[in-house]
Amino acid sequence: MQNLKIVIAGGTGFIGRELASFFGANNQVVILSRSLPSAANNGFSSFKANDDGYKNVRLVKWNPAIQGDWIREIDGCSLVINLAGKSVNCRYNKSNKQEIFDSRTVTTEAIGEAIRKATIPPKLWINAASATIYRHATDRAQDEFTGEYHNDFSVQVCKRWEGTFFNQRTPFTRKVALRMAITLGSGGVMVPYLNLCRFGLGGRQGSGQQMFSWVHIQDVCRVIEFMWAKNELEGVFNVSAPNPVANTHFMGALRKATGHTFGLPAYEWMLKAGAFFLGTEPELVLKSRWVLPAKLLQQGFVFKYPMLEDAFAEIVPTFKRTQYHLF
Ligand SMILES: NC(=O)c1ccc[n+]([C@@H]2O[C@H](COP(=O)([O-])OP(=O)(O)OC[C@H]3O[C@@H](n4cnc5c(N)ncnc54)[C@H](OP(=O)(O)O)[C@@H]3O)[C@@H](O)[C@H]2O)c1
Repeated sequence: MQNLKIVIAGGTGFIGRELASFFGANNQVVILSRSLPSAANNGFSSFKANDDGYKNVRLVKWNPAIQGDWIREIDGCSLVINLAGKSVNCRYNKSNKQEIFDSRTVTTEAIGEAIRKATIPPKLWINAASATIYRHATDRAQDEFTGEYHNDFSVQVCKRWEGTFFNQRTPFTRKVALRMAITLGSGGVMVPYLNLCRFGLGGRQGSGQQMFSWVHIQDVCRVIEFMWAKNELEGVFNVSAPNPVANTHFMGALRKATGHTFGLPAYEWMLKAGAFFLGTEPELVLKSRWVLPAKLLQQGFVFKYPMLEDAFAEIVPTFKRTQYHLF
């Protein structure tokens, strides 16, 4: 992909920064953010100085509740990627739950409306979605054809998010929802996991038997390129490496990659108590996410990182120790 204008809503976060760096080398990237560079979005501009990939990246302020000047960025662009959404790494109290829903539906509706207003609508609209839409699965893998959905909170969020996306009428714009698994790269969940290892707590979590579906961030970028190239593809796609592992395997591979010879396990009660004090939910580590990318494989997509050990070998050295001092 080159010489395209790509708009990334919610692109100041972990995945957005990686996409901006990946696509920014050969394309013009506009990131829609609720605030211009500041401590609030981790000073996005500081990344520009150190990385050539950000030289073609512009930050534009948007308020998804208002069809303001930002909609001009969508008119005439080639591709819109929407990543906006309040992090699910919080306590699921009433107000957080509402914000988790609204931050996804309102932004998705706003982009749909901006596309409808565009004189030259984008060719492709990719919306983030999540592989956590599938039920807690300990018996068999879930894919786009036979996967099952239960009705817990995170599944409801995913359903409503996708529902809002596919309800948007954009007759000239192809739509793809990427049900991403836990994405591994130089940020995101790797930070707390590396910290656990560092403090000798890199053992299994809960029973350790729950499945961990993951994907390397570079494969997320490559899936987007693939979607752009394959004009006929639309609908939902699981974006998860073809070799998910059990939690116990995940933690063992991480200890090996980081050179830690042992790691204490975290029992379920410890995770529940710890999650409360850290302001998060134990479900984030205890849910068994067993997902396969059936449609991507059927379409001939080849993962650069199909095996966890290779993903860690690429990712772990990108962290300087100072980057994961959380405590
Ligand atoms: N990381 C993963 O493993 C993973 C896996 C599956 C799905 N996803 C989904 O993919 C998307 C991107 O993930 P990420 O890890 O990059 O998330 P992230 O780091 O939390 O970034 C999300 C971005 O959304 C914007 N945002 C936050 N709260 C918002 C609100 N109330 N209203 C509008 N925008 C808001 C923020 O941008 P500004 O503050 O600049 O506006 C933020 O930078 C998320 O929707 C996430 O749920 C992530």
